[in-house]
Amino acid sequence: MTQLLKGKPVATALKKWIRNRVEAEGARPSLAIVMVGNNPASEVYVNHKIRAAGEVGIKAELVHLEESITRQQLVNEIREISKRFDGIIVQLPLPNHINEDAIIQHIPPNKDVDGFTPENLGLLARSTPRFISATPLGILFLLHYYGISLTGKNVVVIGRSNIVGTPLALLVSRRFPWANATVTMCHSRSRNIDEHLKNADIVIVAVGKKHWLKPKMVTKNMIVVDVGIHVDDNGKLTGDVEPEVRQIVKAITPVPGGVGPMTVATLLFNVYLANSLAKGIITDAESVITECIEFLRKEYQTKKK
Ligand code: GUN
Repeated sequence: MTQLLKGKPVATALKKWIRNRVEAEGARPSLAIVMVGNNPASEVYVNHKIRAAGEVGIKAELVHLEESITRQQLVNEIREISKRFDGIIVQLPLPNHINEDAIIQHIPPNKDVDGFTPENLGLLARSTPRFISATPLGILFLLHYYGISLTGKNVVVIGRSNIVGTPLALLVSRRFPWANATVTMCHSRSRNIDEHLKNADIVIVAVGKKHWLKPKMVTKNMIVVDVGIHVDDNGKLTGDVEPEVRQIVKAITPVPGGVGPMTVATLLFNVYLANSLAKGIITDAESVITECIEFLRKEYQTKKK
């Protein structure tokens, strides 16, 4: 039987860990969410983030800006808003007239809880991480909750985006007790992806193409993580992985209900980090991730009994 790696119980356990820590430290971490214009999907995500923040004792505030704002005005807003909060995110996508990279450059790196700035990506590459993007870190938490170790495993990452593929490949390949995988990164110009997949223990698909991973590309011992989110012909949510793959592999994250629920909880983990790092209560993200993973493992063991 294929194991379904559901994200909801992991997100619940992660939020419990954050709430415990926030309470123990008597903290009130704060998050500013900057949204430009009225993208309906962004509004749903943002509401979700604000509600979840409240559950763990984090104060999240939405700063809603006009669609017509200029790049320079947005940069000025980010500079001013970030002074009042532990963490700040700029909800993407931005309107077409504003270049996202040009904006990300102006987020103060010590408040960049999305982990999108060059400094935070660079810190991860140098094995001294601070804020790691929510999707890669959420996948790491999810795998460890279910007792899936990465050490020595062959991990094939499909996709090389700045938000998922690239930080994920870095994250799982570093010399951390909870990483240490051998990583192959495939992308749109890779030849013979099927050959790379033959040796994979874990396949993480983040290509953004509906049903890209086909049954013939997988084997029964594989663990598959599906990062995609699309709407199928019947109006239902579906992923980058064809549904039939589920019958073949050892374990898989469902869509919906797999990686998705992890991302908000992991963002809140970063907001907790931002507050506690700023206060000097903790000194590095690596040891906090280690502690959190130990907690998640125990939660799963307790739940299984
Ligand atoms: N839009 C979709 N996902 C994300 C995310 O993780 N962070 C931000 N800032 N915007 C997004």
